[in-house]
Amino acid sequence: MSSPVNYALVGNVGVITVDNPPVNALSQPVRQGIVDAVDVAAGDASKAVLVICEGRTFIAGADITEFGKPPAEPWLPAVFDRLEALDKPVVAAIHGTALGGGFETTLAAHYRCAVPTAKVGLPEVKLGLLPGAGGTQRLPRLGGVEAALELMTSGNPIPAARALELGLIDKIIEGDLREGALAWAEELVASDAPVRRISEQTVPAHDAAVFDRFRGVAAKRARGQVAPLSIIDCVEAATQMSFDEGSRVEREKFMELMRGAQSAAMRHLFFAERQAAKIDDLPKDTAQRSVESVGIVGGGTMGGGIAMSFANAGIPVTLIEVDDEALQRGLSIIDKNYAGSVKRGKVSEDAAQKCRALISGSTDYDSLTDVDLVIEAVFEDPDLKKTIFTRLDKVCKPGAILATNTSYQDVNEIAAATERPQDVIGLHFFSPANIMKLLEVVRAEKTADDVLATCMALARRIRKVPVMSGVCYGFIGNRMLQPYFREAQLCVIEGATPEQVDNAMESWGMAMGPLRVADLAGIDVGYKARQALPEEQRGDPRSYRVADVLAEMGRLGQKTGAGFYQYDPETRKHASDPVVLEIIEREAAAFGIDRREIPDEEIVDRLVYGLVNEGMRIVEEGIAQRPGDIDVVYAYGYGFPAWRGGPMHYADSVGLERVYERVCEFRDRFGAEAWPPAPLLVQLATE
Ligand code: 3HC
Ligand code: NAI
Repeated sequence: MSSPVNYALVGNVGVITVDNPPVNALSQPVRQGIVDAVDVAAGDASKAVLVICEGRTFIAGADITEFGKPPAEPWLPAVFDRLEALDKPVVAAIHGTALGGGFETTLAAHYRCAVPTAKVGLPEVKLGLLPGAGGTQRLPRLGGVEAALELMTSGNPIPAARALELGLIDKIIEGDLREGALAWAEELVASDAPVRRISEQTVPAHDAAVFDRFRGVAAKRARGQVAPLSIIDCVEAATQMSFDEGSRVEREKFMELMRGAQSAAMRHLFFAERQAAKIDDLPKDTAQRSVESVGIVGGGTMGGGIAMSFANAGIPVTLIEVDDEALQRGLSIIDKNYAGSVKRGKVSEDAAQKCRALISGSTDYDSLTDVDLVIEAVFEDPDLKKTIFTRLDKVCKPGAILATNTSYQDVNEIAAATERPQDVIGLHFFSPANIMKLLEVVRAEKTADDVLATCMALARRIRKVPVMSGVCYGFIGNRMLQPYFREAQLCVIEGATPEQVDNAMESWGMAMGPLRVADLAGIDVGYKARQALPEEQRGDPRSYRVADVLAEMGRLGQKTGAGFYQYDPETRKHASDPVVLEIIEREAAAFGIDRREIPDEEIVDRLVYGLVNEGMRIVEEGIAQRPGDIDVVYAYGYGFPAWRGGPMHYADSVGLERVYERVCEFRDRFGAEAWPPAPLLVQLATE
């Protein structure tokens, strides 16, 4: 087999070219290839060395598929030490994304250049790891402690221009990279430029308090995660020890993280996200429809955010509302959102204006005759939705995709309101739709293959993470919330306080506890959904009575200043409310419940295994293609801690046998109606 690394002498420059599609990951043959090329370069007539890549990107990191397997030599740090030790100038030329081990490759070089569109970064923290091939030791020496900590603890890549400002690269090359980089290498030879090994430099002066400051930030922003703290320790070591000693600390901590459960969970999510984008029964070459313009019906909370998502990707949007007043209200919220983004420095004024200019409004459905895709986002009223689809069927051009953002309604029934059910699909965005990454793509019975393929690809174009769901009440995510919220509220009426439930879940890792979520989303949402159902379908009354009482009192959550908690009108900070505790005790007594102390562990198990048990059914029924899809839904749409890998991965990590035992225990204690073990769980646990 030919090596993915090629070496050739071009003038005075020994050119090492990596060609390992799709992203030039540093798999074993690449590592070996680089070492071999370095050996040749060390002994030939070259006076400088250039490292460059073929394909769409510079090296995007270590090969993540090798992680968790026995390590194969040569080890990455050793490869980089060899490259850096060359006694002729080594230049790295970056295009695409130099990430993780890829950026570390460039740090082992002596000079760095990049095309203007390139990005560099150390995203290891997003895989529960730290840069383990010298990154934590070289980056602070090159760019200073603060920049290094920021880059490594956030994991966010930065554009070439910013990297140049920080001194992380030396030069931006316009035009052909290979030609430009070769010319620069020749210049370095001609000017007798020195070999500049970062490992031999000292760390620039810094404020010693910076480490504790970053530890404080990590404790808040990355609650529960070990990798950010290990990164900070390694950078601190870089300021206190020699390069070799610091590298030993880095190696030890890297291996510790690699063996740990958190990184396994985050690596699982990395691959699950990419897998979720694939539809098993859809041929890879399924044709796609062109989507260059979008109509949105309903410019409320969701419609406005969805409009922004498309405009931000350069796709023009027409927003339809019932009347001018509603339209102006919708557009002004969009204006406010863009102004907010500019103020927070998220986008430039100019870029925001360009996006905003792509959104126009109308109260006339005829404005939708030419659009390629319409997304309906009106009130959650099945009859209204069907009326709108019948109307869209008449107005829209043949071949236009007709989508609904419904949270719960039957997409098959909505499709049946048209003469073209093959063009109808669900596109379930999450609030706030311009920010949340998840998109559930709901495939109805008659949805055409090309409509599905188009929407999966379109999701990535608007920077969403798509997961396909079949049709059922609540699709994947909201359907699983039912047992989750049920158990949360049962714990409350049985003896816990709302705070105890929320704190238990947040300490476990959820971004926000369930009752605080209910207050944020509005207690009326669940209330109205229940009212629309016949009583026998509403579930155990003990699990919603308190919420019903709150809704009927007008305590709808944050928007009315009170719900399960009371909220400070200025700061929006929540505080427990004696009134709520009284309601809970009164309603518990009415049900004849003798309130008891509930351990946090029971709360967590009831809520999380409620998710898992329902998730098993969702897989079994084919609503989700695979368990990993559910994990992606929960990590991207519901604030489930990525470092626990999503509910299904978490259940695997605990052991399905143990989960099954606990579900059986809950069935025996709380009844088979709420806790029937999912047949798939039974099968997998007993196999
Ligand atoms: N190792 C192995 N496979 C990788 C990979 C990696 N580092 N990065 C991407 N891939 C695979 C993906 O799984 C996908 O495979 P598939 O087609 O079979 O699903 C394929 O490459 C294409 O990836 P994307 O679909 O993500 O392509 P995009 O063009 O959207 O994105 C990217 C490209 C920005 C490079 C993105 O893939 C990415 O962010 N990759 C991960 C980068 C990373 O985390 N690097 C650090 C690794 S850890 C490390 O280096 C440790 C070191 O410090 C010791
Ligand atoms: P909303 O009440 O904020 O907005 C609905 C908008 O639709 C209103 O501005 C209304 O004037 C407009 N509208 C009503 N009838 C119309 C018609 N015939 N033509 C044009 N516009 C019309 O509601 P929201 O929250 O935006 O929800 C919309 C849909 O999105 C619902 O189906 C909901 O279930 C779903 N959804 C809501 C989420 C949320 O968190 N709010 C999350 C995901 C989905």
